Amino acid sequence: MTALLRQGCYSKLWRKHPSKTHLSSFDHYSQLYKESIENPDKFFGDAARELLSWDRDFKTVSSGGFEHGDVAWFLEGQLNASYNCVDRHAFANPEKIALIYEADDAKDSRNVTYGELLRQVSKLAAVLTSFGVKKGDTVAIYLPNIPEAIVALLAVTRIGAIHSVIFAGFSSGSLKDRINDAKCKVIITSDEGRRGGKTVYTKKIVDDSLKNAPSIEKVLVFKRTGSEIPWTEGRDFWWHEELDKQRAYSPPVAVNSEDPLFLLYTSGSTGSPKGVVHSTAGYLLGAAITAKHVFDIQEKDILFTAGDVGWITGHTYALYAPLLLGATSVIFEGTPAYPNLSRYWQIIEKYKVTQFYVAPTALRLLKRGGEEFITGHDLSSLRTLGSVGEPIAGEIWEWYHELIGNSECHIADTYWQTETGSHIIAPLAGITPMKPGSASFPFFGIDLAIIDPVTGKELVGNDVEGVLAVKKPWPSIARSVWGAHQRYLDTYLKPYPGLYFTGDGAARDHEGFYWIRGRVDDVVNVSGHRLSTAEIEASLIEHHSVAESAVVGVSDDLTGQAVIAFVSLKDGFDHTQEIKKELIMHVRKEIGPFAAPKTVIVIDDLPKTRSGKIMRRILRKIVSNEADSIGDISTLNNPQSVDQIIAAVDIQL
Ligand code: WT7
Repeated sequence: MTALLRQGCYSKLWRKHPSKTHLSSFDHYSQLYKESIENPDKFFGDAARELLSWDRDFKTVSSGGFEHGDVAWFLEGQLNASYNCVDRHAFANPEKIALIYEADDAKDSRNVTYGELLRQVSKLAAVLTSFGVKKGDTVAIYLPNIPEAIVALLAVTRIGAIHSVIFAGFSSGSLKDRINDAKCKVIITSDEGRRGGKTVYTKKIVDDSLKNAPSIEKVLVFKRTGSEIPWTEGRDFWWHEELDKQRAYSPPVAVNSEDPLFLLYTSGSTGSPKGVVHSTAGYLLGAAITAKHVFDIQEKDILFTAGDVGWITGHTYALYAPLLLGATSVIFEGTPAYPNLSRYWQIIEKYKVTQFYVAPTALRLLKRGGEEFITGHDLSSLRTLGSVGEPIAGEIWEWYHELIGNSECHIADTYWQTETGSHIIAPLAGITPMKPGSASFPFFGIDLAIIDPVTGKELVGNDVEGVLAVKKPWPSIARSVWGAHQRYLDTYLKPYPGLYFTGDGAARDHEGFYWIRGRVDDVVNVSGHRLSTAEIEASLIEHHSVAESAVVGVSDDLTGQAVIAFVSLKDGFDHTQEIKKELIMHVRKEIGPFAAPKTVIVIDDLPKTRSGKIMRRILRKIVSNEADSIGDISTLNNPQSVDQIIAAVDIQL
């Protein structure tokens, strides 16, 4: 690898880093990586004592494994997440800024110090206790991306309860399903939200969902806009009124390392969304150690993770990682295009952001907008530019590197998942040589395998391509699926026994760099959001006009992938533009705007096998203009459907 550097292969990319990084060189990484794989207990035991504060030290670093799905870390140990994120920094330096809130309308922005954060978290924790929330209970959070969302998550963890955040773009139906699955007792929301100049009717959506969510006893409402909202006396309470009643310090409740910290729902290839369960100590360690090395976070740094706290990126890199490390996190309520396409660059300039983290889908939008939105903004504070959620194309990488990073910053293309908790393949800023489009090398403790999907055997050596799996547990791997441990085993651990299966295809090139090829299951990645085709199909079928549906992903210049829905209509329904629009609206309403199909294509008959299985593979080929490589269709029950679909796609797409 040093040879690579010497050849000048991207060796000048991180002029800003040299003397400051936590590690000294790529060789240093290689040596530590080796140690982390050969003796994970030593490596992670030391790291956990260095990066986390414990109420009771652990004795057993790790136990269990992928064979039985009983992974556990830091046993006998006890700690509290909010203490680790807030108290210890507030005691050392109460005036230090923990959160910079950039409101949708920039003039509403404000800062929150560590001292103030501790007071807010303490008060809210006491409110939750007064509402009857106890250790192990689940609390739903449906809030815009504002500091109170961070306060809410931390307050839940302070009393040992479990947060379940539902992104405030989900519909009332999706919210209801998630509340019911986790039987949440309390939900925290706001009167409304503001995003991109538009109003989000959070309280109204919560009220709709609660018509069919009997577990919720109390609703706590943060006043964000002050508009009139529906109110149920005895059930609904104002955030400011309740917090005013409580002391500004409340003691944290120590929990066991393996007690769940939170649930976060994510889509899989089958069935309803899964509540991915993360443990307390392992997850926190993963967040802290990856951010420290991958982003090269130093104490004075200001990290701007542009993702919403409603997704895993917001959980790990807007909240837990920066606060565990005592750094400052920018919480942005708005969108990159409001009031214009300079918004991110204004924020970076205004707050002197050192690490910026975003999904390629936003970069594509901003690149397309033109250079005039970037010119004139001082982005010289930046050191690390992160990318997440989908592959970053070479041209976007170059643009990010040159125009935003002034050819001086490190691009950190980070590969991970809701289930992995934190980065699993990612470069270390200032340390790892870069190839545009490759997430580079595994993080500490991540023992990767590329598997031949046909034989199930590991493909060893370089220059191989297959599906991506991990051979050994690491601290932040998800422990279960809420209330459905068997589903956890079936989804992740059964496909290749003894391994964790990511669901992604990947290649390892001749120099050992990893290249993520995308999902190999029925999951579509739209603008970095993971959507299940099965869930969208189920929603379409609920519409009274739809007989059958099949949803596939197609590549899209702006959103990475887009959703294309094929439907056949029931007798008596005509194939009209209105019905197509209605179906798109239906999915927006039933799941959320981000899941809406880009196009609905009406056809007479879906291609099926004799046993009735819909052949999505064929549909995928047709929408990608690869109809000539569909292959043998003679085994279909209705081979004639294929020509009709090709014709329909020609006219309708
Ligand atoms: C899926 C996980 C991880 C936070 C955001 C998404 C895709 C993620 C990359 C990357 C190529 C990537 C994978 C993965 N993905 N990062 N750097 N390069 N693909 O979390 O919703 O759990 O989705 O996102 O397909 O499986 P998620």
